[in-house]
Amino acid sequence: MKKQLETADAPCFERNGSKMPLIGLGTFQSSGAVCRQAVKTAIDIGYRHVDTARMYENEREVGEGLKDSGVPRDQVFVTSKLQMGKLDPVGVQNSCDSSLRDMDIDYLDLLLIHWPESTVPLADTLGAMTELKRQGKIRQLGVSNFTVEWLTRAVAVCDDPIFCNQIEYHPYIEQESPIKVCREHGIAVVGYSPLARGRAAKDDRLAAIGKKYGKSPAQVALRWLVRQTDVIAIPKGSSEEHIRENIDLFNFDLDEVDIAAIGAFDRNQRLIDPDWAPEWDT
Ligand SMILES: NC(=O)c1ccc[n+]([C@@H]2O[C@H](COP(=O)([O-])OP(=O)(O)OC[C@H]3O[C@@H](n4cnc5c(N)ncnc54)[C@H](OP(=O)(O)O)[C@@H]3O)[C@@H](O)[C@H]2O)c1
Repeated sequence: MKKQLETADAPCFERNGSKMPLIGLGTFQSSGAVCRQAVKTAIDIGYRHVDTARMYENEREVGEGLKDSGVPRDQVFVTSKLQMGKLDPVGVQNSCDSSLRDMDIDYLDLLLIHWPESTVPLADTLGAMTELKRQGKIRQLGVSNFTVEWLTRAVAVCDDPIFCNQIEYHPYIEQESPIKVCREHGIAVVGYSPLARGRAAKDDRLAAIGKKYGKSPAQVALRWLVRQTDVIAIPKGSSEEHIRENIDLFNFDLDEVDIAAIGAFDRNQRLIDPDWAPEWDT
C-alpha cells in the first residue's frame, strides 16, 4: 500500500493567522472527472493547498475532490479568484457566494482579485473583500497579476493586510520588482505557471542539475522557487506521477552554484500575457 499523508507537514508560509503550504495544486484548464480526481489524489498524497478561480469553471469538481479525500475542510487551504469584469461590491459578493456554493464549503482561505481592472475603483473592490472577511466567508484577501504600481495602490487603499500577490514565476521570468514590493509589505509571492507550463520539465540544464540530487528537472525548478523566503508555488498536475513528484521537494536543497546557474537563465520569457493584462514591470 502506498504511504499516505507523507507530505502533509510540508512547510508553510504563515501570516495573519493563516498557514499556506508552500506547494499547492494548480487547476487551470483542469476540468470534469480529471480535475476531481487530481484534487483527491493530491490530498491523498499530502497536499493541503488547492488553487482555483471562478474563471476556471471547475469549482464544483474541486469541491468534490476535496470531499472525496475525506480530509476535514479546515486542514486544506483553498484559494479562489473573483469573477473577472464584476469587481463592484455586489459582483464581489455574488462571485464569492457562487464559489462557496459550487465548492459546497463555508469559507475560502483566500480570495484574490484575478487581474487588475480599471472599471471599478480598487478601494471599492478591496472594501467589499474586507466585508467578506468580516462576514466569515473568506479568511484572507489578496491579488493576482498586480504590478508594482497596482500593488502600491492596493496597499494604500486597503484597510486589511494583503496576503499575497499571485504572479507568473518560474526560471524563465524575472520578477524582481514586484517581489521586492511584496517583501517590503510582508505580502507572499505565489508563483503561478511555476513549471513554465511544462517547459521546465524538459529543460536539459535543469535535468543536469537534478542528476546531482537524484531529482527531476521539474523538481529542481520548483525547489528553486520555494527555497526563497515567502515564495509559494502552485504547479498543475493531472497524473498521480506528476502530482507526487511536484511535492517531493523538501528533502533536498540546491547549492549556491546551481542557484546562480538558474538565476542566469534568459529571464525575459513571459508566457501569460492576455489582452487585458496591465502594463508589466520591466
Ligand atoms: N492568477 C493567474 O492569472 C494564473 C494564470 C495561470 C495559472 N495560474 C495558476 O497556476 C497554476 C499552474 O500554472 P499552469 O497550469 O499554467 O502551468 P504549470 O503548473 O507551470 O505547468 C503545468 C503543465 O506541466 C505539466 N507537469 C506538471 N508536473 C509535471 C512534472 N512533474 N513533470 C512533467 N510535466 C509536468 C502538466 O501536465 P499534466 O497536467 O499532464 O500533469 C501541465 O501540462 C494553474 O493551474 C492555476 O491554478 C494562475
